[in-house]
Amino acid sequence: LNPYYEANGISIYHGEALAVLQSLDTPVAAVLADPPYSSGGMLRGDRLGKSSDKYRGWSHSPTETHAPASLLPEFSGDTRDQRSYAYWSALWLSECLRLADPGALCFVFTDWRQLPTTTDALQAGGWVWRGIVVWDKGVARPIKGRFRTNTEYIVWGSNGPLPAHADVYPSSVIDCAPPVDRDHMTQKPEPLIRHLLSIAPPCGLVLDPFMGTGTTIVAARSLGHRAIGIEIEERYCEIAAKRLDQMPLFPTATPSTPVEQADLFSEAVS
Ligand SMILES: C[S@@+](CC[C@H](N)C(=O)[O-])C[C@H]1O[C@@H](n2cnc3c(N)ncnc32)[C@H](O)[C@@H]1O
Repeated sequence: LNPYYEANGISIYHGEALAVLQSLDTPVAAVLADPPYSSGGMLRGDRLGKSSDKYRGWSHSPTETHAPASLLPEFSGDTRDQRSYAYWSALWLSECLRLADPGALCFVFTDWRQLPTTTDALQAGGWVWRGIVVWDKGVARPIKGRFRTNTEYIVWGSNGPLPAHADVYPSSVIDCAPPVDRDHMTQKPEPLIRHLLSIAPPCGLVLDPFMGTGTTIVAARSLGHRAIGIEIEERYCEIAAKRLDQMPLFPTATPSTPVEQADLFSEAVS
């Protein structure tokens, strides 16, 4: 299989995740996946709607500065019913496990509705479930008399026993606004991805099977990792390739802020 893009330790494949995963044989140190959630309603019919309808309130704030979802292109694979979502998730997660180094990490984004399915699928795929990271987006479409859905979740696990790769103790709650300039309805912020990768082994290979605009790949590269991205829509492969070409050649970022570490230790001594 020929990569769509290959440079500086990064490969992007334009294709269907399961098919591409089955053709790969490179061992990976971390899988960081942001699949389509197939969520957005109580009934099957609700999920069949256009992604622009379902994600209309994704980054809503009273002072809306983000591009409205209706102005961004639709994306694929977001209409599975509950049972097929569970089976499909277990399938691609087990295919990722086949590539995983012993002790490799796995992170999977999800929302409140798909959280139980995702924790089940991670384990059905053969990974050891280690916990949940809460992402507080700060913004959400307010609905009178209800809690705002301003959080999403990252279910994480490992391929068997988990070695400690670094002397870091990142929080399992992270406040981080969605990106202001985005090209994808559900584009994730780079600092959030860097926070997750703070526990990954240095210079490891990071795999994102649902790459979208390539946020995982860009964040991984900024930390000095190598990365593989897979995306079914060519327009997003193109955007990711452009983002990568605009990056400096050498790593520029650190995974967690000094403030975070300082807070931790001041708590520990008090
Ligand atoms: C939630 S988005 C990822 C957004 C990404 N994290 C970002 O920051 O831009 C999921 C992506 O998976 C892609 N996708 C859906 N089904 C796929 C499949 N079967 N194989 C590969 N990519 C798929 C969609 O086109 C979409 O761009």
